[in-house]
Amino acid sequence: MLDKDRINEILSEIENMKAKNAEELEVLRIKFLSKKGAITELMGEFRLVPPEMKKEMGMRLNELKTRAQDRLAELKAEICLSDEGQEELDLTRTSYPVPLGTRHPLTIVKNEIIDIFSRLGFTLADGPEVEDDWHVFSSMNFAEDHPARDMQDTFFVESHPDIILRTHTSSVQSRVMEVQQPPIRVICPGRVYRNEAISYRAHCFFHQVEGLYVDQNVSFTDLKQVLLLFAQEMFGNDTKIRLRPSYFPFTEPSAEMDISCNICGGKGCAFCKGTGWVEILGCGMVDPNVLELNGIDSSKYSGYAFGMGIERITNLKYQVKDLRMFSENDVRFLREFEAAN
Ligand code: PHE
Repeated sequence: MLDKDRINEILSEIENMKAKNAEELEVLRIKFLSKKGAITELMGEFRLVPPEMKKEMGMRLNELKTRAQDRLAELKAEICLSDEGQEELDLTRTSYPVPLGTRHPLTIVKNEIIDIFSRLGFTLADGPEVEDDWHVFSSMNFAEDHPARDMQDTFFVESHPDIILRTHTSSVQSRVMEVQQPPIRVICPGRVYRNEAISYRAHCFFHQVEGLYVDQNVSFTDLKQVLLLFAQEMFGNDTKIRLRPSYFPFTEPSAEMDISCNICGGKGCAFCKGTGWVEILGCGMVDPNVLELNGIDSSKYSGYAFGMGIERITNLKYQVKDLRMFSENDVRFLREFEAAN
């Protein structure tokens, strides 16, 4: 009979119930909550309750049912924790939650660079990191005894003086031109190596993105416009660029590009050493010698090239103070870029 006493009776039974294993727990579930269980039975009698009692009884019944479900869940948890409950465990589950990894900041920035240039019609190209002297230096117009070879501290393979670790991604320019005639419009991201003492601001390897565009009537104006677009996409629409004359054996004229410091907005801060400008890349018009050395008619075609360091761009975006962080794989550092994933 559905009344307060009956409800309290079942409630105290529920509070006192115990189960040592899954079978005992199932017996209890059937006793109270199955189709023929005590609580289900009381629920069935609810329609006989006089109208003035319905509200209170309804509430008590619901509380009873919820309490029974909670109590069974508690018992189940206890069983799972105890030894007898072992067979209850799902052994196909991983033993602990596996946290998702995050993309490396250099990968995030590399992908962003690729994305910007692919919207401008550039496709991807790559080449080997262990290269020969021809692709890294000779085909890039470094004369045999030219002091320019000393500009970059090269790692040599001892037994094969001709085989080196590439010091810049410009080697991929040559790799592309030797198999493709203009129009050529590629970017080449990749790792490069230089024999430098490791410190917070230098490492023996780092990453670059090379750009190469060769076609008829390519001009310095085209180069400048593409680089301005890149800088504004990467660092915001207010970003300004300036080009300073420079020297590379493979470009003529050559320039280095600065952007207005995006940390202080060009006012001058510690990062830009008070100048308001920071250097981000080298560029220039492809030297006609380079075109000829790589099988492209320099009387018909001209081109521009640029090369930037991914670490440098990442530093500007995220202010990483110590370059070594990029290669230490400290998860606390890597997790900081979760939001940028
Ligand atoms: N290869 C040059 C460097 O590593 C960068 C560069 C690329 C300059 C292409 C001009 C054109 O410093």
